[in-house]
Amino acid sequence: MPTPLRIAITAGAAGPWRITATHTLAGASLPPAARLAMHEGADPPPPGSGAWQLLGVTNSNLRYTGETERTRLAGVQQGLGRPPATRAALIPLSKSEAWWELAQDARRALLEEQSRHIAIGLEYLPAVARRLIHCRDLGGEFDFLTWFEFAPEDEPAFDDLLRRLRATEEWQYVSREVELRLARD
Ligand code: HEM
Repeated sequence: MPTPLRIAITAGAAGPWRITATHTLAGASLPPAARLAMHEGADPPPPGSGAWQLLGVTNSNLRYTGETERTRLAGVQQGLGRPPATRAALIPLSKSEAWWELAQDARRALLEEQSRHIAIGLEYLPAVARRLIHCRDLGGEFDFLTWFEFAPEDEPAFDDLLRRLRATEEWQYVSREVELRLARD
């Protein structure tokens, strides 16, 4: 696992990614903005420099991924920043207290044995590249920031992935979810 990276996502008038659509699926939305940037490292732009800023840290360890799943993921997954991947989605989300009160093995069973999150997700690799950012332990307004990059022709497949995941048992525990679609030139 690489060293965890501090991440700041700042929305406002500037940034390489244009916000093309915002869908609020559960809970409160985010203030409107034209563009956003994802900053990596310990030195983020100051808060207040945009319409909003979300802070987090990349996964320091795998919580739910088994050894076979890890090997399969490592064999197919692609990194962020591929030139043809000019479309992206930022989906900040939180899970309910009922989720966080469960024991680790019960959460794993819900995520994979009942919902097949990793198995479904694997079907969409390598077209979709992803980054999972944790915020819960930092006291952020969301528990996670999820980030996905893909080529324009793979956007329908990404829509299909979202439809499938949102129909799972795991998503019964999602208490807040905002989806921002992004494009860069
Ligand atoms: C692109 C295909 C996808 C793959 C291969 C994938 C894979 C994974 C894996 C392996 C984990 C577990 C990480 C760990 O063990 O710590 C995970 C967690 C997570 N994924 Fe996905 N995922 C995909 C798509 C998505 C999408 C589209 C969303 C949001 C709409 C999403 C949201 C999350 C969240 C919030 C977690 C953390 C769950 C928790 O800790 O409760 N994933 N994903």
